[in-house]
Amino acid sequence: MNYIRLIPGAVAAALVVAIGAAEAAAPDWSKVPGKAITVFYPGVSPIEWITKGTEHGGARALKKGESCAGCHHEETADMGKKMASGQKIEPKPIKGKVGSIAVNVQAAHDGANLYMRFSWKQPVGGGEKMDKDNPVKLAFMLEDNKVERANLSGCWETCHSDARTMLDGKDDKKTKYVAGGALAGGKYYDLLQWTSKGGKFDGYVADKRVMEGGKALIDAKGEKKGDEWVVVFTRKLAGGEGDIALASGKTYNFGFAIHDDHTAGRYHHVSLGYTLGLDAKADITAAKQ
Ligand code: HEC
Repeated sequence: MNYIRLIPGAVAAALVVAIGAAEAAAPDWSKVPGKAITVFYPGVSPIEWITKGTEHGGARALKKGESCAGCHHEETADMGKKMASGQKIEPKPIKGKVGSIAVNVQAAHDGANLYMRFSWKQPVGGGEKMDKDNPVKLAFMLEDNKVERANLSGCWETCHSDARTMLDGKDDKKTKYVAGGALAGGKYYDLLQWTSKGGKFDGYVADKRVMEGGKALIDAKGEKKGDEWVVVFTRKLAGGEGDIALASGKTYNFGFAIHDDHTAGRYHHVSLGYTLGLDAKADITAAKQ
């Protein structure tokens, strides 16, 4: 029965709008395959440390085109233990900090929006509350194959030894940046962040980190169900300044980080660099729903 015809005009219009909104809502996640990515505690391992051959075993191979994930994808949990415990490149270990967090990452799109879903079990905590307001924050970055080496190193191109809380960091305002980064020419990372207090940020990292101004982020929602966190981002495929415009058939460099247990600054768990493809073969494929 076509009952919409029987309803007065204004109500019918409202119904149509409601149906339209439902169509733009997140996909049925139970049908979207997940990619297991273990984020790990990186200690103090800025790109300068990574590329300096004397200290990092992978420096030479990276130069020849081997990716971080190519060497390390399977062993990030073991790596994280070394830094979290202070055994390696972490002068200020946090007591009881877990070395890694296993995350399930899912992505989908509907022709207008990209949907990204992250889920993981809350690890034990109890460290210093650096960020009193937010027990948890999750951020991800996208890069459009313009920043040199980003296809190999993911977010590490933004991680430098002179940023705040890093060993050579003298300027408390200095955060992430890309060497030679600029919005013009597309040499930047798009940056989106959700915070458990309810914050959503849409920014970018070019010559400096900017946490606002983006037009792509529609929503970032997270909730803890039992001991599991589930965070879902809804982001327009198109965007404004500092937003990478996403297109079907293309792949982008992708990495993400979780600030667990009230941490801030560099005291996060991070992923290696992966690829996100829209209807394209990649580490994570966002297929059209
Ligand atoms: C050719 C393989 C290779 C590549 C590529 C590579 N690494 Fe490594 N990495 C190593 C080796 C070998 C070690 C030393 C492991 C050890 O001492 O047991 C290491 C150590 C590390 C460590 C210290 C923790 C540990 O387990 O010792 C970090 C952090 C790290 N790499 C991050 C990276 C990042 C980030 C990239 C990419 C920007 C990268 N690596 C690329 C091989 C590689």
